[in-house]
Amino acid sequence: MKVCHTHRENLYTLLGALFQIMEKRPIVAELGVLRGENALKIHSALSPEKMVLIDSWSKAANDAYSPFDQLPPWVAPVDTYAYYYGGSLHDQQTWDKLYEECRERFTHLPEVTIIRSETIGAIEKIRQETDISKFDLVYIDANHQYEYILRDLMYYQDLVAEDGFIMLNDCCHSPNGTKQNLGVLEALGSFIKRSDFIPVAMTNTDWSDVILVRKNSMLVQLMDMALTNSDVPYVEIPYQLITAARVVYGSQQHNISFC
Ligand SMILES: C[S@@+](CC[C@H](N)C(=O)[O-])C[C@H]1O[C@@H](n2cnc3c(N)ncnc32)[C@H](O)[C@@H]1O
Repeated sequence: MKVCHTHRENLYTLLGALFQIMEKRPIVAELGVLRGENALKIHSALSPEKMVLIDSWSKAANDAYSPFDQLPPWVAPVDTYAYYYGGSLHDQQTWDKLYEECRERFTHLPEVTIIRSETIGAIEKIRQETDISKFDLVYIDANHQYEYILRDLMYYQDLVAEDGFIMLNDCCHSPNGTKQNLGVLEALGSFIKRSDFIPVAMTNTDWSDVILVRKNSMLVQLMDMALTNSDVPYVEIPYQLITAARVVYGSQQHNISFC
């Protein structure tokens, strides 16, 4: 696995180049869309044949923030993040506005289907509302708590093509991530023991992105070739070390430590 000194946007460009080499216009899904800004970046980099955007845009998402009646002291109250969502997360209007903003962003792109649903209910809607059976890329960024992200990975792996990618956002252990009780990295650790997916690239950033492919897929070699010949600096490590990763904050730069 390559720990890449780069941001997720550069990885989208790299995936775009790989799909071009494979002469494929990919079929893409994003789980957890918010305003659709990241989805639009993926769209621009990959020119997908079809794209499905899945988000509940519902204040009910708050219910899954912590399983405890009393919030543990190391977890920040959900209201801390109102600035990111543009309003109170307890007010349904905040979510409705985000949904509308996203819808407007994609009205001119008929290849994009928006599904307003929690991620698991969305699987049936994908069947009903599209003719998609497999995705070439599933970008997962919905609920970040351990049980939810593991469930997204376990269900959605079956919707990923043999030579397809999963990409995980916020797959890190960091001081800021801990305040949100992120369970993404831990869920990935469990997922790679239960599936044939392995991580092949990770960004050396806070809120790290990780790319997964099936271990027997040609994408292992293709990703290796693409990154080796790119201008992205990286350090290569055994993928099994990924669960040891933690982000360290220096005064000028964040880095990932495996110690
Ligand atoms: C961090 S934001 C996504 C950000 C977006 N991917 C980006 O990079 O700009 C998380 C989103 O996941 C959605 N979400 C949370 N839990 C969900 C669930 N169980 N099913 C569907 N969407 C969910 C929220 O509504 C929110 O819009």
